[in-house]
This record gives sequence, C-alpha cells and structure tokens, in this order.
Amino acid sequence: MSNSIFNNIPSSEITPEEVFLNRRQIIKAAAAGAGLAALPSIASAKNPTAPWLEAQIKKGFETTMKVDEDLTPWKAATTYNNFYEFGFGKEDPAKKAHSLKPSPWSIEIAGETEKPGLMPLEDIVSPHQLEERIYRFRCVEAWSMVIPWLGFPLASLIEKAKPTSKAKYVEFTTLYDPEQMPGQKVTYSIDWPYVEGLRMDEAINPLSFMAVGMYGKILPNQNGAPIRLVVPWKYGFKSIKSIVKITFRETMPDTTWALQAPNEYGFYANVNPEVDHPRWSQATERRLPGSLFNVRRIPTLKFNGYEEQVAHLYKGMDLAKFY
Ligand code: MTE
Repeated sequence: MSNSIFNNIPSSEITPEEVFLNRRQIIKAAAAGAGLAALPSIASAKNPTAPWLEAQIKKGFETTMKVDEDLTPWKAATTYNNFYEFGFGKEDPAKKAHSLKPSPWSIEIAGETEKPGLMPLEDIVSPHQLEERIYRFRCVEAWSMVIPWLGFPLASLIEKAKPTSKAKYVEFTTLYDPEQMPGQKVTYSIDWPYVEGLRMDEAINPLSFMAVGMYGKILPNQNGAPIRLVVPWKYGFKSIKSIVKITFRETMPDTTWALQAPNEYGFYANVNPEVDHPRWSQATERRLPGSLFNVRRIPTLKFNGYEEQVAHLYKGMDLAKFY
C-alpha cells in the first residue's frame, strides 16, 4: 500500500458509485450449505498441508452460522488477493503461491512470555474444535467480502503462550523466505518480513480469530496458509498471513504499513467511514465480486459493523487521530 503499489489502483475501485446492495438479504443456513457443497475445486496454489489438519477440518466443520449477507463466492475470495510476498497484482498470489510450503509449520513465541520457544502448528490447532466465523472483511483499498473462516479465537492461543504481565501488545510476523515467497526478492516495496500487531485487549477480544481454513476447507496458500489472523473490525492489512512468530511486547510494535507510509496507515486501522484515506474516500466499499455493470457499492460501517463488540476498546480515544 506504499505509493508505488497503490498508485496502481484503478479509479473505478475508489470512485463512489451508488449501486446499493441490500445488506439485509437473509442467507438460510441450508442455502449456505448448498453453496459450499458446490464449491469448485481450488484453482492454482495447491496446499499440501499436513493430513492431520485436513482431518481436523473435516471433523470440525459444520455450517450452522447464519448471517444476513451473501457469502463472497470462493472463486472471488481465492483469486483476488493481497499477499505482496507473491507480487503486487491481485491475481498474483493465486498464480504464484504454490511455492509456499505450509507444512511442517511452527510459530515461535517470543518477547514477554513465560514460555518462549517453538510451538508446532499441530500443538496449536489440535486442541481446538474448529469454529466457523462468518465475517465481513474490508480492505483499506475499499473493496470488501464476506468470508466463512474456520479457526479458533486468538485469545486461546495467547493464553497458551503465557505472556507475562509486562505484555501490552502482540506482534505477528510472516514467514521470511524469498525462495518460498519470491515477492520478498523485491526489496524496494516492503521492508520484509511483513509485521502486524494488536494491543493486548484487542487481541483477546472474542472477535479476534486465528484462521486455518475457509469455506469448510483448508486455507489456500494465497489466503495465508497454514495460519493467519482475522480481525474483522480493522482494515484487511491488519489480518496478517502465514504467521511464523508471535512476540509479546511492552511497547507498541513497528508494523509494516505504519512504517512504510505513516501519513496513510496507522497502528489501529479501525474501519472508519468518517476518516478518508489521504488518496481516496473510505465512506463506501465495493463488495466483491462486482462487474463493470454492477459495481455493488455499499456504505462502509463504523468498525466494519462490529461497533457493539469493540467500540469500548477505544473509549476516550480520538479515532480520527489514532487511525
Ligand atoms: N499478510 C501478509 N503477510 N502479506 C500481505 O501482503 N496483505 C494484507 C493482509 N495480510 C498481506 C497480509 C491485506 S492489504 C489484505 S486486504 C488482506 O491480507 C487480504 O487477505 P485475502 O487475500 O485473504 O483477502
């Protein structure tokens, strides 16, 4: 989202067009289930994730959740991605992420913790009966989706990682391996590896979620296999993919986009239709998939519609200043 990348956004993506989608379309669980059964086999980027995870997802998956919006079709969610480790184009990750090897995988726990060291993915995921969470997902570039994730609350991983009382922030780091992630060979764009962070109270909020799957299947590589963060009330860039390290910190971590373009991206990055990006409005969003003739432009909601669950975290803070 540095200038070099974001200057390429077609103006059609950032110009408000009043094509309104009715947010109150009710999805019946049965309809959602039928949609999932009819999923096409994933395009490109095959994910050779460990069989235990495949088995756990099959065991844990049930579509019981009801939401009042249409799910984004699998194809749109897996072929229009931001994952700069595989290129700057929206279609690059689906074409190129096959070089990522999501198994075996561990997450290093570091910083202010009583239990520093490597946690194998199996130890992290296996104790959980995986849950489905259907969340709205709003990219800072003003497109949005509705995704059924599979995973478990971030709070339970944090509990297991035993942060000390000094830990006020949680920092997340993506894999750094230019052989697996060829976009990391491009050094003029991002200071690799990609880093994101949350304040501890944000991290343990029940909405903060670690995803290992989506649409009842294992996460495709381009969507952040084998494990990623999903923070639905914040712009999508906070939802860091392919995490290999969690560091508990006493002070606010330096995060990729806040470092890259501090006048455009802050640490908090709460979805806020009242605070425009310096180069485009955040008042509306383009719900994917759209077409030239049906852009599906809808109003953006404060905290992406999750105000009730999270507004208390920011009491007394000027959210126009702390963006
Ligand atoms: N994580 C890493 N490691 N690298 C990235 O480039 N892009 C972010 C976020 N997480 C990104 C990342 C941005 S800008 C968005 S909008 C979402 O991932 C996109 O997630 P999706 O491709 O699953 O829709």
